[in-house]
Amino acid sequence: MSGRSEPGVQSRLRRLRGRESVRRALRETKLHPAELVAPIFVLDGKGTVEQVKEMPGISRYSADRLGPHVARLAKAGVGGVILFGVPSRKDTMGTGAYARDGVVPTAVRALRKEFPDLMIMADVCLCEYTTHGHCGVLSGEKVDNDRTLPLLAKAAVEYASAGADVVAPSAMMDGQVLAIRRALDGAGLGETLVMSYSAKYASAFYSPFRSAAGSKPSFGDRKSYQMDVASRRQAMREIEADVKEGADIVMVKPALAFLDVISEARSRFDLPLAAYNVSGEYSMVKAAAAKGWLDEKAAVYEVLVGIKRAGADLIITYFAEQAAMWMKEG
Ligand code: PBG
Repeated sequence: MSGRSEPGVQSRLRRLRGRESVRRALRETKLHPAELVAPIFVLDGKGTVEQVKEMPGISRYSADRLGPHVARLAKAGVGGVILFGVPSRKDTMGTGAYARDGVVPTAVRALRKEFPDLMIMADVCLCEYTTHGHCGVLSGEKVDNDRTLPLLAKAAVEYASAGADVVAPSAMMDGQVLAIRRALDGAGLGETLVMSYSAKYASAFYSPFRSAAGSKPSFGDRKSYQMDVASRRQAMREIEADVKEGADIVMVKPALAFLDVISEARSRFDLPLAAYNVSGEYSMVKAAAAKGWLDEKAAVYEVLVGIKRAGADLIITYFAEQAAMWMKEG
């Protein structure tokens, strides 16, 4: 006997829920601000802060205006930030992505100076910098995998030398982790981490981000490089490939419609696992809350704790500042 009731005896699981102090003590999953990473859109130029219409509560900042925003995030205890560049000029090769004085390296240098201990991550992709809006360079109308790799590697080296702790390739090009790892090591940047957007799905939930970052593809879609939303085993192959190529952190993106993928990745791999609670998942909650159709604080808690319960160690979320404040209040 293990001290359990005899078969046939009615279970009394409600004993576990009678009082908040008991529920709190027995809670299986606890959230901490340090697990949250805040995405930040960085604009070219100076003196600009603009609200993102599709993402209430989120703004885009020029590098010189980031300080107070990031200071608030740090004060709330968030684990780090991930930067996305929104350049004013684009070209077919996405040269702004790997220019030394580009929008992301400029912001990284400014933040590194003001916040020496902050974990700074930088997204590595071409879509915000190309006139066609695709994540790699084109050969005809096709996104050319192997011609894109050296450009992503160059971008990663620029961001790392500017002071980013983590570079995060999100282009879904095969071999991007290996190309970046080799380039970093070759440039004496062996301490920089690579967080790979390993299982990144071709999702409808990126729409608000694409408005904020100006990265809508001008023709076609991303389905020839981002994953088909109906596949799970293939996600495990993507993660496995990135592990072999030397990723330090792997990611599943988006989070909410892919909790099974997060859960399986957690049980199969021992690397730190990130999940990206993407723009559409944010805007959906914000829109419903604004209409009074749901309680925002309770919904945000449920979303974030669900992603963690599924197995994520890190959650990239536009709710980071607000949620970290709520967590501090208890
Ligand atoms: C760049 C990138 C995207 C997102 C993160 N990195 C957009 C895309 O792939 O179209 C989406 C993030 C979000 O929706 O919050 N490739």
